[in-house]
Amino acid sequence: MTRIIAVVGRKGGAGKTTTVFNLAGALVSRGLRVLMVDLDPQASLTGILLGERPDTGISTALLDPRATLDDLIVRLGVGLFATLLLVPGDQGVEAAADKLAERSSGFTRLRKLLAPLQDVDAIVIDTPPALGFAISSALRAASLAVVPTLTGQHDLDAMADTVRLIGEEEEEGGARLAAVVPCAVHARELHDRGALDALAIAYGDLVTPFVPYSPRVREALAARTPMGTYDPTSRAAEAYDALATHLLAVGGHDA
Ligand SMILES: Nc1ncnc2c1ncn2[C@@H]1O[C@H](COP(=O)(O)OP(=O)(O)O)[C@@H](O)[C@H]1O
Ligand SMILES: [Mg+2]
Repeated sequence: MTRIIAVVGRKGGAGKTTTVFNLAGALVSRGLRVLMVDLDPQASLTGILLGERPDTGISTALLDPRATLDDLIVRLGVGLFATLLLVPGDQGVEAAADKLAERSSGFTRLRKLLAPLQDVDAIVIDTPPALGFAISSALRAASLAVVPTLTGQHDLDAMADTVRLIGEEEEEGGARLAAVVPCAVHARELHDRGALDALAIAYGDLVTPFVPYSPRVREALAARTPMGTYDPTSRAAEAYDALATHLLAVGGHDA
């Protein structure tokens, strides 16, 4: 059964896109077939991985009721990661969101597009940093929600809003909060250690090992290489690997 994972959060720059890529890499390195879906109109994941943002991306399939994702899926085929697939994002997602949000079926359109993809083991969805159509669609399509967060007070406040939305969408049949991932953490700083403690108190076992702040994390994504390959013994690689283990263990509705 396909595990569908939505990586969401209200704030930009929280590590969502980086988490999507490295989580997908950690899952692929276990021999799983993994599809990433770029639902962010900024399409930064797509831009980095393809070197360009194609004219047609996920928005065309969202808008056309007869469309499937088959024609959109790109096989990245990078080195070890031949089984890593991407549905490119495009700017059109914003306009598509406006149209689809008017229909009650609009929020489940993504879910319908993903349902036939039974031959992939996991789907990881990247989303824009705003609570809106894209995040709600991703949550309705997924069974597991992952929230990466930085450690600033604003980030922790935003996290609470995100978790509230996940709860609301869960009541509509959407994903449940499965993991909170502290990102770009300066573990030697008192402030960051305090933030990790606060997250542990609020979210308990859902908090996975923190990803330390490291320029290597940025470099690895620019090099289109998951941390597990770029710097396998790094703490960041271990943290993303632990996230993959955690998500495979907690499973989903259909796991
Ligand atoms: N652990 C980390 N250490 C250092 N920089 C990081 C780390 N994680 C992410 N970044 C950098 O932070 C920026 C924002 O990350 P990104 O994944 O794009 O966030 P989002 O998708 O939430 O906007 C990017 O430049 C990324 O390379
Ligand atoms: Mg992003």
